[in-house]
Amino acid sequence: MKISIIGAGNVGSALAERILARNLADVVLVDVADGLAKGKALDLLDATPIMGYKKTVIGTSDYKEISASGIIVVTAGFPRKPGMSRDDLIQKNANIIKTVLKNIKEFSPETIILVVTNPLDIMTYLAYKEIKCAKHKILGMAGGLDTSRFKALLSQESGFSPDKIETFVLGSHGDTMVPLVSKTLLGGKPIAEVLAKEKIAELVGKTKKRGGEIVGLLKSGSAYFSPSAACFEILSAIMHDEKKIIPCSAIMEGEYGIKDSAIGVPVRIGKEGISEIIEWELPGNELDALKASASAVKNVLNKL
Ligand code: LAC
Repeated sequence: MKISIIGAGNVGSALAERILARNLADVVLVDVADGLAKGKALDLLDATPIMGYKKTVIGTSDYKEISASGIIVVTAGFPRKPGMSRDDLIQKNANIIKTVLKNIKEFSPETIILVVTNPLDIMTYLAYKEIKCAKHKILGMAGGLDTSRFKALLSQESGFSPDKIETFVLGSHGDTMVPLVSKTLLGGKPIAEVLAKEKIAELVGKTKKRGGEIVGLLKSGSAYFSPSAACFEILSAIMHDEKKIIPCSAIMEGEYGIKDSAIGVPVRIGKEGISEIIEWELPGNELDALKASASAVKNVLNKL
């Protein structure tokens, strides 16, 4: 099984390295910028004698090489600059997504597609519209990343190790994301028994702004260690048919009362891609926030 990654920027190349380091699959790294993917692939190959990678990697600007991929990860697109919102990238990245998806349709139409390009939920839906594949075969990476960020902050604040923290962040990958306070357990206890209300609100706010905080600090480019880790988590769940629950942007057909849009919801991930969208009973405020987040995505989609 091979995994192709479209876009050899920071997220794409960090992901290639993670896949090799964990021996997950052979990698094809594609970038339209001449030489970029090939250069990164050669660099990774040169680390093989030291790191002991068992799988292979090639870099190319020729889409033909993606044929018969089991999974294709789409990272191509412009990242944010300081002060920009993810939505500011829509027009430029929509054109890129359309071109990328045309090539996927031509060379590897049966693949599972993981979208990473921002604004994430909008690009996931546009990708689906372009390729018109079965909806379980397309998903967007973001909820897992936002969940990991929330967990990291909760861990720092509470002293519980991340594996003793359960939480999920749903909604759009943007300011309207919905960290599920109602489903957050620290060491098995509801969060409200461990942290003060104001502290919880502060950490929720920090989670929402974390991506932007990193963009502001880096000044050029956006986060890539944690985004590539979140992609890896999904790829691993597909490759090993884990049926793990990870919040992902999914094509909605009425779940949570949302349709004709893509939005972050809890999904079970296995070899078929999305094996199930899980519909939890959410308290009114969180369900309303999820619906509002989906409406915000839909409003943008309707204007395109
Ligand atoms: C972030 C980018 C990947 O949240 O959207 O860092």
